[in-house]
Amino acid sequence: MNFQLTEEQEMLRKMVQDFAKKEVEPTAAERDEEERFDRKIFDKMAELGLTGIPWPEEYGGIGSDYVSYVIAVEELSRVCASTGVTLSAHLSLASWPIYKYGNEEQKKNFLYRLATGEALGAYALSEPGAGSDVASMRTSAKLDGDHYILNGSKVWITNGGVADIYVVFAKTDHDARHKGISAFIVEKGTEGFTFGKKEKKLGIRSSPTTELIFENCRVPKENLLGNEGDGFKIAMSTLDGGRNGIAAQAVGIAQGALDAAVNYAKEREQFGKPIANNQGISFKLADMATEVEAARLLTYQAAWLESEGLPYGKASAMSKLFAGDAAMRITVEAVQVFGGYGYTKDYPVERYMRDAKITQIYEGTQEIQRLVIGRMLTK
Ligand code: CAA
Ligand code: FAD
Repeated sequence: MNFQLTEEQEMLRKMVQDFAKKEVEPTAAERDEEERFDRKIFDKMAELGLTGIPWPEEYGGIGSDYVSYVIAVEELSRVCASTGVTLSAHLSLASWPIYKYGNEEQKKNFLYRLATGEALGAYALSEPGAGSDVASMRTSAKLDGDHYILNGSKVWITNGGVADIYVVFAKTDHDARHKGISAFIVEKGTEGFTFGKKEKKLGIRSSPTTELIFENCRVPKENLLGNEGDGFKIAMSTLDGGRNGIAAQAVGIAQGALDAAVNYAKEREQFGKPIANNQGISFKLADMATEVEAARLLTYQAAWLESEGLPYGKASAMSKLFAGDAAMRITVEAVQVFGGYGYTKDYPVERYMRDAKITQIYEGTQEIQRLVIGRMLTK
């Protein structure tokens, strides 16, 4: 057993750290305040090859692995969780199902554009009445000659409105629950495809979350992903890996909050000495650091399993469950270490705390992760 990252993974971490420090961190608070997505940041990630980390070069990727991918999401989220989820949704939710289930033509076209960062991706599963209960979705797709006609709406879509390529799930057979769902690749600009409400959120405010509306939207039948009826399995297997991307986001947020708390505890003096010299504070920091490390190990392990072609669904649900809860606890404690200053926008820890909450909700709530893990243990 070897817990050491490879030279290539270490180099990627350093490159992403430098990029995050120089190009992402300086505007993170301002973008959060203004709820502003910055496409230029995504374009720069593309220049560095981050938008296609695990995909083979023939599909526009850099032929690396899933450990490198989670390292990238972690390091981005360490300074800006919105930027972390932009990459995570693009790569593990929009690109992965095309890599896994797409035919050669779909990979050469859509995956290539996603991997090179020419196009930004999004994944559209959730609906107003179908969040945890995916199979109850109502968006429909009916074959009409050479096209599928999509009708309905999707909500909460990360990268919604700004993305170019959407993996959209719809019912091709309303009477069959899971087996009646199919997956489609839908391009921005397709007739009948528009955007609705943009959510005003507690956290990850510079990541747009938007409603998608389909009104007699005509999608070429070549854009069906897999076969009719494969949609539920495509959606679930995509989430198996996607959840580990959110675990990585949670690890990054937690590490960022810990870094800030350690620095502050060494500098802030009360009663004539740094607050870090109180055991009450240093024990808090020790617990936070231990939890970050445990969350990181679960996350890297799940990514390693996926890279090795071993089963990773349970490991990924566990990493997301543990890392999400750890990030929430750690960021609350980081605000506590900062005292009153932590409650203001003068320091980044209040943003980390707001951002951490989403990691317990999306890509399946923590309750759904327990349901997934529980079913795997007992099936
Ligand atoms: N891979 C392949 N197949 C799977 C699977 C998986 N991981 N999980 C289930 N299936 C198969 C089952 O084997 C079963 O197949 P058969 O019918 O052939 O037996 C079928 O799918 C139905 O499975 P279940 O009975 O387990 O389905 P369910 O209706 O009970 O739902 C669930 C299971 C886990 C609760 C699922 O609905 C779920 O994951 N809900 C949460 C939704 C979610 O995570 N949404 C995230 C949206 S994306 C997002 O949020 C983006 C972001 O963060 C940026
Ligand atoms: P509900 O399913 O209504 O759940 C409400 C509560 O009931 C939760 O606490 C839940 O855990 C609990 N609950 C439900 N069922 C059970 C059960 N069986 N056992 C125990 N407890 C249960 N979706 C996409 O498709 N693509 C995206 O890009 C995307 N990005 C998102 C970004 C943001 C910022 C947000 C907020 C959401 C995003 N989502 C996205 C949707 C997200 O995945 C859902 O919000 C999430 O799956 C929960 O669904 P829901 O909000 O409908 O809650």
